[in-house]
Amino acid sequence: MSYLRVASRQLASSRQPFVRAGTGAIAQRSWNRGYASEVKIGGFEGQKQGNGNYLVSLIEGDGIGPEISQSVKDIYSAANVPIDWEPIDVTPVLVDGKTAIPQPAIDSIKRNLVALKGPLATPIGKGHVSLNLTLRRTFNLFANVRPCKSIVGYKTPYDGVDTVLIRENTEGEYSGIEHHVVDGVVQSIKLITREASERVLKYAFQYANAVGKQKVRVVHKATIMKQSDGLFLEIGKELSKEYPEIQFDYELLDNTCLNMVTDPTPYNDKVLVMPNLYGDILSDMCAGLIGGLGLTPSGNIGDKCSIFEAVHGSAPDIAGKALANPTALLFSSIMMLQHMGLNEHATKIQKAIFDTLAEGKYLTGDLGGSAKTHEYAQAIIDKL
Ligand SMILES: NC(=O)c1ccc[n+]([C@@H]2O[C@H](COP(=O)([O-])OP(=O)(O)OC[C@H]3O[C@@H](n4cnc5c(N)ncnc54)[C@H](O)[C@@H]3O)[C@@H](O)[C@H]2O)c1
Repeated sequence: MSYLRVASRQLASSRQPFVRAGTGAIAQRSWNRGYASEVKIGGFEGQKQGNGNYLVSLIEGDGIGPEISQSVKDIYSAANVPIDWEPIDVTPVLVDGKTAIPQPAIDSIKRNLVALKGPLATPIGKGHVSLNLTLRRTFNLFANVRPCKSIVGYKTPYDGVDTVLIRENTEGEYSGIEHHVVDGVVQSIKLITREASERVLKYAFQYANAVGKQKVRVVHKATIMKQSDGLFLEIGKELSKEYPEIQFDYELLDNTCLNMVTDPTPYNDKVLVMPNLYGDILSDMCAGLIGGLGLTPSGNIGDKCSIFEAVHGSAPDIAGKALANPTALLFSSIMMLQHMGLNEHATKIQKAIFDTLAEGKYLTGDLGGSAKTHEYAQAIIDKL
């Protein structure tokens, strides 16, 4: 069965770094090949065009995607952000039976080095894997960054939340290495490599520095997964010596969950960084603290290209009715502006969004209001 063949191939190709990671001198050699501390990980290297604007690839997405993208375009135009949008179509194609992104879309993102993405409906059918996963693999988007900040005007049981979580995005429990051993016995392999761990941990330290957080904390289960999480944690400890200005510590995942739902505010001065599965779950929990996925932005950072996206889906139930809330995509675009160094524009638009939400006159239905998508966008424009 081809499934088993793929799994075996992946295991074979993964074997080398797995062994290397745990063995003294060889591990040291691979460490030395790693990222030098002065190298900026996942930084934006795009150039302005002749007209002084950056070109940004725009995946409007499915369902409510075009409506919420329109809000972003309208607000950016009113705020004179130096960006031209290059719309791209990522409707998947099957190449040799595997889901692939159309080549013109890949070329656009590789050229512009940055993209904003609306939600994509996962096509149902044989051969298709999630397009989001395909994008992640195509552009080697190694870190998923999820900030969650309480919104004045949208009350939840928690006030003053301001967490940032960075999730390793390429391996760990989601490496896709699974085996059917014998009937009734399956095996799933969690792959942790020094190279990928170093890259995401280094990005976490650099991100903390960039956004003014004083602490980096590794969330782990190295008490149980002594080798895999143990390696991730060990690399965090080693790297922390290169960032003496950042306080480093670590916490067991279960303790983090308990502490966060009890009182999330002690996490406000920290960047949390962790392997794939923990980040997937904990980031949605953080979103819950501030009111859910509809308000949560995210950035997928790659070596060269980065893609910023709302974490909610395409909401087919409300598509085309002007009921969609564009806030998550807007906040994702703010992260994108910060990534591109357009901080002044980011701050200005962010303030207009916060002010509009705090005023509460033009909220969309999901936040308890009755404003249409474009009315909410117009209220933000009026506050710019
Ligand atoms: N990142 C992504 O592209 C992404 C993420 C999740 C789901 N999806 C895809 O989206 C499709 C629908 O998924 P789903 O229904 O499970 O989740 P969903 O997030 O699309 O919808 C869940 C609920 O939240 C509401 N909602 C979501 N976003 C909203 C917004 N911006 N404003 C107002 N209400 C909003 C919807 O109306 C719905 O009631 C599926 O094809 C799924 O694969 C894509």
